[in-house]
Amino acid sequence: MVQCTQPPPQLKLPESKITELTDDENHDSPPKPEKRTRMHHIERHRSCVVTLSDIELNGLQPRRLLQTIEKSPGGSQCSLHEETPTDTNASHRHAIADAAWEALKRSIVYFRGQPIGTVAAIDKSQGAALNYDQVFMRDFIPSALAFLMKGEHLIVKNFLVETARLQSREKMVDLFKLGQGVMPASFKVHHRNPTQKTESLLADFGETAIGRVAPVDSGLWWIILLRAYTKWTGDNSLAESPNCQRAMHLILRLCLSEGCDTSPALLCADGCSMIDRRMGIYGYPIEIQALFFMAMRCALSLLKQDSDADFVNHITKRIQALSYHLHSYYWLDFQRLNDIYRYKTEEYSQTALNKFNVIPESIPDWIFDFMPSRGGYFIGNVSPARMDFRWFCLGNFIAILSSLATGEQAEAILDLVEERWQELIGEMPLKICYPAMENQEWQIVTGCDPKNTRWSYHNGGSWPVLLWLLVAVSVKLGRPHLARRAVELMEQRLAKDDFPEYYDGKAGRYVGKQARKFQTWSVAGYLVAKMLLDDPSHLRIVALEDDSHSRAPFLKRSNSCP
Ligand code: GLC
Repeated sequence: MVQCTQPPPQLKLPESKITELTDDENHDSPPKPEKRTRMHHIERHRSCVVTLSDIELNGLQPRRLLQTIEKSPGGSQCSLHEETPTDTNASHRHAIADAAWEALKRSIVYFRGQPIGTVAAIDKSQGAALNYDQVFMRDFIPSALAFLMKGEHLIVKNFLVETARLQSREKMVDLFKLGQGVMPASFKVHHRNPTQKTESLLADFGETAIGRVAPVDSGLWWIILLRAYTKWTGDNSLAESPNCQRAMHLILRLCLSEGCDTSPALLCADGCSMIDRRMGIYGYPIEIQALFFMAMRCALSLLKQDSDADFVNHITKRIQALSYHLHSYYWLDFQRLNDIYRYKTEEYSQTALNKFNVIPESIPDWIFDFMPSRGGYFIGNVSPARMDFRWFCLGNFIAILSSLATGEQAEAILDLVEERWQELIGEMPLKICYPAMENQEWQIVTGCDPKNTRWSYHNGGSWPVLLWLLVAVSVKLGRPHLARRAVELMEQRLAKDDFPEYYDGKAGRYVGKQARKFQTWSVAGYLVAKMLLDDPSHLRIVALEDDSHSRAPFLKRSNSCP
């Protein structure tokens, strides 16, 4: 059990440790004040939608922003209520936040005296640490956001600098040399000679990971984090440094390289992202496609003016093609499901409606009940004769944050979450995917993975870290009541259960069978969620404006074709 103490601990890192890690460049120019010039307006559609421009705090303080929302017509839907002194739960919430900040502070990893990341978990009760004692790229994202929002920028900068350095190492799996752009899944500090205090970083690019898969998401997250750092601090010098420009180029060149593909989506091996074990996500998983889309958009804002014009053009075209592809073939709602259900097969040529020759009999039974009349989402995967209808949380929420989803689609995704609350949120937010595979399907698809049994871990388990994404999209769409509901659920258990990595069961009631305690991204995810709710202006750190003008028009729905 966590002992929650008052007053709130200060996160400030020890003074002696806060010095620049980089010796080659001085990136640490003081943060520039945010521009406070743009006009604000609160747009209203079905519910109150807050545009990023509103939120960018350009002169509009959060409290005023909230008041504006609440005063505007239909504002009751957007009750981002503030704490009052009479709030009986307030002290409980403060205690959880304090415990979380303490845990986050304990997770910090130092390299040559500098903070460079956070360890995946500190669970003394478990025997072998496996690789949970390492700093994972994807796990560090919520930590980084929490640090940035708290004003601790240096750890994020050091992380970006050091991982860019790791990227330039030669990476081998047996006799095979990995692409230059591959970023590490994780790294740890290696004490070569404890007496001489010589430290180096040991990275894992997939060559020691279970399943030997390279983390495709790492590089994409790296670019997204670089944009978050730049946007938040106003310090462009890091992104503009030769090392960061090079790292971005290498990551994107890897993703944009020509192959034999007929699709703009990124072809991946199973287990190449947060779900890092075999789970039938090989091919073109939505998580990677949404991250790819977001990373490309972030890169466009970070690449220097004098960057190779062909390269920039290539990225722009790929953004359009990917967006078109995902909208045309991944988007699913009631109407589209009905269209697919009535698909003809064996069509040939350009006029085919059923382009991937999906056999309607392959549509799983569960989707017919699961699909509400109001709502929709991007399905998990599309490839020849295969549509993976499973719901994947991360891909869909990144689609909203990156504005890959149109405004209407974004609302529909949240409608689905609201309509299927029991299934997707249950008692402990949030399901990583839905539904779980069981029996023979589980045997075949996971290879009988005992860690991924039904409703456990990656196979329909509930992951607290995903809370920050739900909160971010709810705030973006002006529907924070959803976020508040989920946060309240989490607050009943998270600290009491020692911040577990995941929960098991259909409703997420049980602490996961093999879940680590004090899992850092469960801790940080909660803190980021809280900070986003407390101050919606923080959303600018991770949300991109809609730039629909750069999108190609989407494919017409089959039912509207002659
Ligand atoms: C597990 C998760 C992965 C995470 C790692 C460290 O392998 O599947 O997503 O990055 O643990 O927490």
